[in-house]
Amino acid sequence: MKMANSFDFAEQMTQGAREVESALQTCIPKLFPGAPEKLLDAMQYSLMAGGKRIRPVMLLESCRLTGADTQRALPFACAVEMIHTYSLIHDDLPAMDNDDLRRGKPTSHKMFGEAMAILAGDALLNGAFEAMSRACLAAPELVPAMVCVARASGACGMIGGQVLDMAAQQDVEQTDRLKTGALLRCAVEAGLLCGGADEATKAKMLAFAEDYGVLFQITDDLLDVLSTPEILGKSVGKDQRDEKATFVAKYGLNGAKRLADDYAQRCREHLGGVSRAVFFSALLTNTIERKK
Ligand code: IPE
Ligand code: IPE
Ligand code: MG
Ligand code: MG
Ligand code: MG
Repeated sequence: MKMANSFDFAEQMTQGAREVESALQTCIPKLFPGAPEKLLDAMQYSLMAGGKRIRPVMLLESCRLTGADTQRALPFACAVEMIHTYSLIHDDLPAMDNDDLRRGKPTSHKMFGEAMAILAGDALLNGAFEAMSRACLAAPELVPAMVCVARASGACGMIGGQVLDMAAQQDVEQTDRLKTGALLRCAVEAGLLCGGADEATKAKMLAFAEDYGVLFQITDDLLDVLSTPEILGKSVGKDQRDEKATFVAKYGLNGAKRLADDYAQRCREHLGGVSRAVFFSALLTNTIERKK
């Protein structure tokens, strides 16, 4: 029997993902009336293909832990998922990782051709900024949250990290802090900014998010070796074939697993003094144990 005050992570994750998905579902037609049908199809195809929605749910939960209404954070949650989805579409392109499978379906360029995949990614990025700008028009105090997302997804964040990744830059931690960590970190920061978190909470949660980003990519690298396309919904074994500089390549499977545990421990310590951080403690355990 479940204790009255026990926390059901899976349920919280499902509820958050559902909230984000229903907002995303209406987002595309509402934001882009009259846009070319094929473009809208390509945008919807990748956006609604069933990702885990970790970033938008983290954003909503970061807002929730401040005690604020998560509704004001919803446009930012949708924006971060649109940016993440665009980054995946572009990451899969032949010029980048050249992948055929994403979220259990053929990749965007396999379905719609390279040109449309590039354009769908571009349009999702612009859509994200339109959604955030409109939220800021209604509530100008939210502008810092948009600045934070802009910075994290750009040249000093995710895009910069993708450049380091393509160059197989040997400082794996630096690459991962940028290519994957920046967006995860900004999900937390934007949520805290939407909720008006105090400085002490912000400092601890950002330290958590910084290390969580690296942890998430270590587990992604591990799954590339240990999982299957059926479970993961994307191809496996490509990091080694493409000679990517990953934690697994650098430290071996067991070394990477140990490092993941070290990062998780550090994350746990950062969460130590944060009240209402139960979602994030559970997220940590879930990430270490994740199968997809
Ligand atoms: C995959 O991210 C790409 C990385 C940054 C490692 P996710 O594992 O969150 O992918 P989805 O959104 O669930 O498809
Ligand atoms: C992707 O890293 C990071 C992004 C910014 C999209 P990977 O190339 O390892 O992600 P997957 O394994 O293709 O999802
Ligand atoms: Mg990549
Ligand atoms: Mg890839
Ligand atoms: Mg990967």
